[in-house]
Amino acid sequence: MEKGKNIGELGLMEKIVSLAKRRGFVFPGSEIYGGLANSYEYGPVGVELKKNIQDEWWRVFVRERSDMVGLDSSIILHPKVWEASGHVAGLVDAMVECKECHARTRADHLIENHFEAKGEKISVEGKLEAELDAIIQEHKIKCPTCGKFDWTPVRKFNLLFETHVGIVPEAQSKVYLRGETAQGIFISFKNILDSTRVRLPFGVGQLGKSFRNEITKGNFIFRTLEFEQAEIEYFFDPEETDWKTLYEQWKGDMWKFVTENLGVAADALRWREHGDEERSFYSKRTEDMEYKFPFGFKELWGLAYRTDYDLTQHMKFSGVDLSYTDPTSGKKFVPHVIEPAVGINRLMAMTMLAAYTEDGDRVYLKLPPRLAPYKAAVFPLLANKPALVDLARQIHSRLQKKFPVAWDDRGNIGKRYYAQDEIGTPFCITVDFDTLGEGDAEKKNTVTVRDRDTGTQERVHIDKLEEFLHGKIYY
Ligand code: GAP
Repeated sequence: MEKGKNIGELGLMEKIVSLAKRRGFVFPGSEIYGGLANSYEYGPVGVELKKNIQDEWWRVFVRERSDMVGLDSSIILHPKVWEASGHVAGLVDAMVECKECHARTRADHLIENHFEAKGEKISVEGKLEAELDAIIQEHKIKCPTCGKFDWTPVRKFNLLFETHVGIVPEAQSKVYLRGETAQGIFISFKNILDSTRVRLPFGVGQLGKSFRNEITKGNFIFRTLEFEQAEIEYFFDPEETDWKTLYEQWKGDMWKFVTENLGVAADALRWREHGDEERSFYSKRTEDMEYKFPFGFKELWGLAYRTDYDLTQHMKFSGVDLSYTDPTSGKKFVPHVIEPAVGINRLMAMTMLAAYTEDGDRVYLKLPPRLAPYKAAVFPLLANKPALVDLARQIHSRLQKKFPVAWDDRGNIGKRYYAQDEIGTPFCITVDFDTLGEGDAEKKNTVTVRDRDTGTQERVHIDKLEEFLHGKIYY
């Protein structure tokens, strides 16, 4: 067994949810008003972790690649965008409502969870409402909320959130909050071609909020009403680039990111290909990278070959030519696209679960240092000795200009270590009497630096601290 990983699977989710609230990663949404299902607030350290994952994604997939550019499009787009993309007709779920307690749930989730609880597996993707109804009735599947068996018939329900532009909620003013960031990329395709020097193959990356009216239980931040999506549309000429090769390259890049940049063990990951019934209307091949969450292997990151579906649809609906002209051959055509699409919040849930470590009494988040909310914490050994506090404050403010650094002078050192371990701070720096030159003379101007993962301590000269941390964090 890996050192320090002695947690039984049972209860891991509960431990993460509790730690997330206790330490300020994630709070239940609108809690003082009794909560709002499937919504969360990201607390002081949670916002840092989420942002670090976003920054890492942006660095690896946009900034450090010469075949990629970025985009930040609107959340509210012209309503025709969603008609063209097929989401108004297609982003629908089959729902049932319990007549007893009025809980609404997705019929496919209700059925799949019922069978999963019995240790059986069933796939109902692509089944019609009447077929879903028949399964619920035949197996007498009860409401997971109140335990009664009294359902309405299965009905289609659109996941797009509707709102209105202007003060009068008329049909003409209806708009949608975007259900995916992808469409913003397709509708800006011409402007990107006209304003930059990109040549095929190239990709456009976008990070931002997407919204879906999810009404089944979301499993913490795994499935939420609003989430930070990170999507890439990678455009290519299908006559020049073999889509299968490109597809495999993207699989490799996604896998590398999760295992190397997010520090997740490969044996907790797998690929699963969508069958004909499950695959979205626009895709020729879709595979999900799945992570072994405590509630089972679930979709983490989707990879779809969307062909030229979206650009062609937007050409039809807008009347604008979105084709590409090869500058060398003059060939004019509509590019095809491969799309890796992930939710940052889902990556964050996985990263916290994968990092959670128990070592005897010690609990720590073994986060990759780049992702840790604080890179170091600075403590004076005693809070009531002004000389220790002053020097520790100086070190803290010097380091703070370069890294996110925490300060703690409460309680004893053990408690401070405990708190920093639980938020994944890789290094704790303590200013003691030796630092002041009041103990071992050779240790004057050195501090103890304690390593989160090993618990070992070493003395580092205060003038070398910045270099020391930099080498360990951005290796
Ligand atoms: N543009 C394609 C698309 O949006 P998707 O499989 O519906 O495909 C892509 O979503 C990714 O977005 C998922 O793999 C997941 O990581 C994330 N995601 C989707 N719905 C989500 C939700 N309600 N809450 C959190 N993340 C979500």
